[in-house]
Amino acid sequence: MPQPLRVMFVCLGNICRSPMAEAIFVDRLNKRSLSDRFVVDSCGTGHWHVGGPADERTIRTLQDRSVKIDHVARQLNARADANEWDLFVVMDSMNYRNVLAAGVPREKVRMAMSFVPAYRGLAEQAPAVPDPYEGTMEDFGAVYDMLGDACDAMIDELLANASATTGARS
Ligand code: 4NP
Repeated sequence: MPQPLRVMFVCLGNICRSPMAEAIFVDRLNKRSLSDRFVVDSCGTGHWHVGGPADERTIRTLQDRSVKIDHVARQLNARADANEWDLFVVMDSMNYRNVLAAGVPREKVRMAMSFVPAYRGLAEQAPAVPDPYEGTMEDFGAVYDMLGDACDAMIDELLANASATTGARS
């Protein structure tokens, strides 16, 4: 069995998009009996919400879809995190630039939507997962749908890469 891949989801505040992505990713892994293949966390590039829960609209959006969340917001600590995590999955181009500027190597950073087959060749030009913080519950629902597509495609791609590297079957 290969070492679990360590995936860190990153957004700005760590209360809307990245904790939702983390919760959805863990939920999809559990449903596919793949939770032993990944270690998952999320963080924000900003410090404002550190130590607090996810936005209550994030929690409601997930609860309405029977997805568990218990994340406590934390800020990216690039010096420690760049060593500890294999992959940083960011939501938009501002997160992308902030994570690179903080010192995470470019080869460890991916836009979330760049995993979706339609956008796979676009790398950092892949569409953003839009920030719903100033938005409505409908915006949170749209983010949930985008992140669901991204998480399913991520699991497929990362497992395919792992089997290609190890020669193992996934
Ligand atoms: P997130 O959304 O980056 O998806 O967690 C935001 C949450 C809070 C703020 C900005 C974006 N804020 O400015 O406090």
